[in-house]
Amino acid sequence: MVKVKWLGHAAFSIHNEKHNILIDPFITGNPTSPVKTDDLTADYILITHGHSDHVGDAFQIAKRCDSLLIVPNELGVYAEGLGLRVHRMHIGGAADFDFGRVKLTAAFHGSAIIDENHNIIYTGMPCGFLITIDGKTIYHAGDTALFGDMELIGKRNPIDLALLPIGDNFTMGPEDAAYAVGLLKPKIAVPMHYGTWPIIDSSPETFRDLVDSPKTHILIMRPGEEIEL
Ligand code: NI
Ligand code: MN
Repeated sequence: MVKVKWLGHAAFSIHNEKHNILIDPFITGNPTSPVKTDDLTADYILITHGHSDHVGDAFQIAKRCDSLLIVPNELGVYAEGLGLRVHRMHIGGAADFDFGRVKLTAAFHGSAIIDENHNIIYTGMPCGFLITIDGKTIYHAGDTALFGDMELIGKRNPIDLALLPIGDNFTMGPEDAAYAVGLLKPKIAVPMHYGTWPIIDSSPETFRDLVDSPKTHILIMRPGEEIEL
């Protein structure tokens, strides 16, 4: 039985009896985070791109737990430079791990680590993740615009759970995310990447009401809430 917990923003924990996987664990500085960094453990940490609201506390947790980072190549090279364990991948590629399979999908966005002096370190293309675990397929879209190839992703993968940004401004807003649901055709869709700050304060109810996909259940989660697939 795989369980998925929303940690606020784009951060999720996916876990079963054996494995603890974190995605984009932005905890410190996340006003909606229901947990403390020190309470999180992970054997794997997946990061969609280099922005601080996605790398978050990943490096700190990885150091403490000896987690394996599964990340886009250039972000992986950066993390290797910090002495962390890394499995580098890139868009279109899949790989098997002891918990299941991970495939990197395209995401239309940017990716960089930016320091306090506004120096930009390029960290490759941003991505989304298709994660297969315990026979279930979870799609974490990352930060992205709506794009037509979501239809291909939906056609070629039976998605049990789609995690979709709806916050607008930096990513899809509710209207585009609702259209994305029609392309992806997941069993369940959960909105994310909204409400963290005023600039991405969009309405999950608007998203839900705009979805015209009778086979999909739209689930509006609260940070800290967990579902079982
Ligand atoms: Ni971003
Ligand atoms: Mn973001």
